[in-house]
Amino acid sequence: MCGIFGIVVEQEQPLGETLIEAGRRLSYRGYDSVGCATLRDDGTIDLRKDVGKIEKVAERLAFAEMVGQRGIVQLRWATFGAPSQTNAQPHLDSDGDLVGAHNGNVVNNVELREQFIAEGMTVRSTNDGESCVHAVERYVDRGHDMIEAIRRAYQDLEGDYAFVIGRAGDDRLYAIKKGSGLVAGLLDGAACVSSDLPSILPLTRRILRVRDGEIVILRAGGVELRRVEDGNIIEREVEEITDSMESVEKGGYPHFMLKEIHEQPQVAGELIRLLEAASYVSPMVERMATARHLYLVGCGTSYHACLLGAIYLARLAGRPAIPVLAPQFIAQYGPALGPEDVGVFVSQSGETKDVLNGIRVARERGTGILGLVNVLGSTLMNESERYLPLACGYEISVPATKTFTNQAVAFLFLALRMGGHPTADLAHLPDLLEETLAAVEPQVAALEPALVRQDDLYCLGYGLTYPIALEGALKLKEVTYAHCEGMLSTEFKHGPLSAVYDGYPVIFVAGPEDVPLLISGINETTCRGGRAIVIGEEDPRLRTNAHDLIVLPQAGPLLNPLLATLPLQLLSYRLSLARGYDPDFPRNLSKTLTVD
Ligand code: AGP
Repeated sequence: MCGIFGIVVEQEQPLGETLIEAGRRLSYRGYDSVGCATLRDDGTIDLRKDVGKIEKVAERLAFAEMVGQRGIVQLRWATFGAPSQTNAQPHLDSDGDLVGAHNGNVVNNVELREQFIAEGMTVRSTNDGESCVHAVERYVDRGHDMIEAIRRAYQDLEGDYAFVIGRAGDDRLYAIKKGSGLVAGLLDGAACVSSDLPSILPLTRRILRVRDGEIVILRAGGVELRRVEDGNIIEREVEEITDSMESVEKGGYPHFMLKEIHEQPQVAGELIRLLEAASYVSPMVERMATARHLYLVGCGTSYHACLLGAIYLARLAGRPAIPVLAPQFIAQYGPALGPEDVGVFVSQSGETKDVLNGIRVARERGTGILGLVNVLGSTLMNESERYLPLACGYEISVPATKTFTNQAVAFLFLALRMGGHPTADLAHLPDLLEETLAAVEPQVAALEPALVRQDDLYCLGYGLTYPIALEGALKLKEVTYAHCEGMLSTEFKHGPLSAVYDGYPVIFVAGPEDVPLLISGINETTCRGGRAIVIGEEDPRLRTNAHDLIVLPQAGPLLNPLLATLPLQLLSYRLSLARGYDPDFPRNLSKTLTVD
């Protein structure tokens, strides 16, 4: 978890603005606290950090005034140690001549802290990032140079992490990767390293992707990679990134979430075209079709895409697939997995620890590992025998929107191919998504006053719209902090119906095939005074029975779930703002959950 960025320049200069900007671009990774450190020519370290989001902390602590020849910024999402000034990163070593910060988790940090204290070091926090600094300090104090000290520290630090560290009086920064993302950037007369590209791309397009077990040595003149195992230099080609910077900016929208909602027609179109042309679809389909048991594995939104994927596969290809939450995949199916089975692991970030744990178990049992991957170069991509790229570009906002749509599109495409159906009709999807956004925006806005103060609601679907109801409920919970339960509509009468009172809102997501069945559910709610809000195609039966009808374009049963997702995303966004929250950064959450 968390985000780190470090930069080395030729000589001492103002670095504050660069660090603030890099931190701002990483703030989707964590926003419990933020800290900046600069290493100055006179051997001093200027360290400023506090609890809160970067904009506020940077202003309060005047990050902009910070100067140095090297600088580090860290954005924290708390796991070990409460969010506090002391636990904020970067951290100093005992004497204050090493400074470093990490992302990820050092799982043996409690034991290490006891060792460090017993060895006479000054440990100030309960945060595992501090362990990285003391682990290096331990070997520097025994006379090793920085590279050797980091190599030895690596053996002591258990878990998945990346960290960056600098030493007073040196002119370099050092970083290491073990399980968490790390990318280096090459600039004229400078070098930088970061957890992710958005903080690097404004500075340079020339990057080096760092792999696990590699040390990065950053000098003003360049970047060197060394293998932690033997300390040997690694040769790697510099990669030129061609993505537009606009893809990491808000593109004129007030929030990334809204921008990403509106990007869905475009990214869906790009993915469909990519898959039409790709040679890797057929082998993937073949692998899925011939598996003994096929599991679709993910968490949160990605799991909801798995639920929808399983329906598409059964319906279009007659292929049974078992959608399962990643941790439960281990408990429920792990002991029964075999080499004849295949898991399709789905993850936007490609770094979700729950998913990677599932992959580990699959690997141990010889089970095939396929991936639906948005972040190229992610662990999921590297661990997969084969993968389909989701081609959404960066998804910055914590709530997943466009990646859900493309996960669903990818499953639909695979199911159509597996069933021998033409995929040409998918070409209409981008226009339908565009039309839906335009049509539902005013309808959703009209609903806002009725729902803005509602702290409790249900979202129901049936068949193909069941996963959409779960996804809509998750989105509403995530950004409005209201309780919203997603459920199969037919289950509502088996208990939750008792919650209905006068005006109680129940959202129904109506697939065109399931209208008669949903009418019963709608009436069970309305006859008890509940407010039935229906999302579906224009239909007189819905119109007469529901209190509100959000009308979707006619698209047929297979594409309808994709369209029905959009008003739920927009409703969540609007209600979040109306309740005074920041939908891009819901409290207590992080975009990339690299923890158990
Ligand atoms: C969705 O809005 C959430 N942010 C969350 O449920 C997310 O989908 C989940 O944590 C899985 O993430 P992943 O796709 O990166 O694995």
